[in-house]
Amino acid sequence: MTGSTPRLVVLPAADWATAVAAELAERLSGRPDLRIVLPTGDTPSPLYEEVVRAEREDRLALGGVTIVQLDEWVGLPPDDPARCDRRLRTELVARLRTPPAAFVTIDVDGPDPDAAARRHDDAARGIGLALLGLGPNGHVGFNEPGSGPDDPTRLVRLAVSSRDAATARYGATRVPTAGITIGLARLLEADEAWLLVTGERKAAILRRVLVEPEGPDRPASYLRRHPRLTVFADAEAAALLPR
Ligand code: F6R
Repeated sequence: MTGSTPRLVVLPAADWATAVAAELAERLSGRPDLRIVLPTGDTPSPLYEEVVRAEREDRLALGGVTIVQLDEWVGLPPDDPARCDRRLRTELVARLRTPPAAFVTIDVDGPDPDAAARRHDDAARGIGLALLGLGPNGHVGFNEPGSGPDDPTRLVRLAVSSRDAATARYGATRVPTAGITIGLARLLEADEAWLLVTGERKAAILRRVLVEPEGPDRPASYLRRHPRLTVFADAEAAALLPR
């Protein structure tokens, strides 16, 4: 599979969330029943804030949309503040005037996480738009270094930096060692993918993901194979990219 050159949209940090939300509103007006993959984390939080505002002001509607969760920690209790399903609910889903048609979460609390991952692999088919963040180690979702473009949705061991993020940044009450993530195989099948990247701390890895040859040490680099990839970066994250 070969992709075309990604579309790179560089925005001033202050405009980033409103510009991405405006493009999302445009997509949704054309396809109100979009099946959409959503990540959690520091990057999408301001976007979700803006999406909630736009929905309340009738500039965007999510009532027909199916939201599919990108990834989840395994081993955190359901009410843990770091849980991705909880964050998506509190930052976005529960704040909408009209909730999405469906919110498909990953069943990490059941007895068989491998079976839950297989079920989520089915949920991750037919995706219209996948929104994705970029890990400082080049991961996308929990497709950690070593992941490949043919990987399905599956149970994975987390990299140390991801485990640290769970506790230090997101306030997890325990250190999770595993997660379930939609695999790159499904993400590359989505009709469209958006890689969301903000802040100076992502500048070096964004350059390595977009400029250097693709490779399993930076799984996000495989997204370049996607025929409709847009990278929405703020000026800080884009600072090391070639002009
Ligand atoms: C979380 C996820 C992760 C994050 C990535 C960046 O659902 O999929 O891949 O997108 O670790 O995290 P932030 O945005 O917090 O820098």
